[in-house]
Amino acid sequence: MNTASPSGLPSGRILTGHRPTGPRHIGHLFGTLETWARLQDTYQCFFLIADLHVLTTDFDHPGKISANILDVLVDWLAAGIDPDRAVIALQSCIPEHAQLEILLGMLVTVARLSRVPTYKEQQHELGLKPSLGFLAYPVLQAADILLYKADTVPVGEDQLPHVELAREIARRFNQLYGETFPEPRAILSPIPRLPGTDNRAMHTSYGNAIFLKDSPEETTQKIMNMYTDPTRIHATDPGHIEDNPLFTYLELFEFDKERIVNFKNRYKTGRVGDVEIKQHLAKVVNDKLADLRQRRAEWACRPSEVIEILRAGNQQAKPIAVATYQEVKQKMGLNFR
Ligand code: TRP
Repeated sequence: MNTASPSGLPSGRILTGHRPTGPRHIGHLFGTLETWARLQDTYQCFFLIADLHVLTTDFDHPGKISANILDVLVDWLAAGIDPDRAVIALQSCIPEHAQLEILLGMLVTVARLSRVPTYKEQQHELGLKPSLGFLAYPVLQAADILLYKADTVPVGEDQLPHVELAREIARRFNQLYGETFPEPRAILSPIPRLPGTDNRAMHTSYGNAIFLKDSPEETTQKIMNMYTDPTRIHATDPGHIEDNPLFTYLELFEFDKERIVNFKNRYKTGRVGDVEIKQHLAKVVNDKLADLRQRRAEWACRPSEVIEILRAGNQQAKPIAVATYQEVKQKMGLNFR
């Protein structure tokens, strides 16, 4: 999957990130964080907290961003993002992200940006009148990636159109001004998207997420209330396992495959109640998250150390950002002395 050199030393550079929209949930864990943690072995990794991106839709809730940054950071550390091996940076602390966005914005048409699928979807979902900043969302994301000349971008499937745009911008820049940027390629998590407890996509603000910070009791409660087969009234009714999040979760959390087959057979033939499966699922989910929660609790009570990690990361990122930005300015003709 990756391009580790024979020496085993990092041979490529990763940049990826999350918007600090709130605490991370198990969808983030399987969708991205576990993959990121693994890639730290073979890549030079930059993990970005994209706070400017939050403002593209949520500019009217400025009070929440700071607390969310800390929450995200603690969750990342708990999930195995390792500041000794990776650089963790905060977008708004490195002005070159926004500055590069302006320059790259010259190379993309408004028509191209309005065709990005997330642009239409989000407008529809959030009932939003798109701002200039929102239209340019993927240009800022391209700036994030290209600023560090990253060649690899591990993301969830929803982000593929943005990585595609970053590739186009890199190509265009290289054609116009000479070879500068690698064309970044996306890599996806091997695990398909996890549904929320109500069977819609899991989302921080839908009330259907199991958060990494949830206690075992909260987790059990959420699982006991989880959506299952709506056509099944009694435990003796034959049930459907397709499109039933109970089984999607079991496949992911239960390592004993025979047990899954056994549950499925009994479910299809009306020989097991939802409650029994849910109780078992709650147990395996809590088992799986136990170590992570332990680490999370340890980080959560040391906020000043966590902030120090971010400061140190910003300092590591800054000179790289400055060097690329200077190179881009120069190549685009902004080199008057
Ligand atoms: N748009 C990404 C998301 O919402 C977050 C992000 C910002 C990002 N900059 C990035 C992801 C650069 C990958 C690379 O998930």
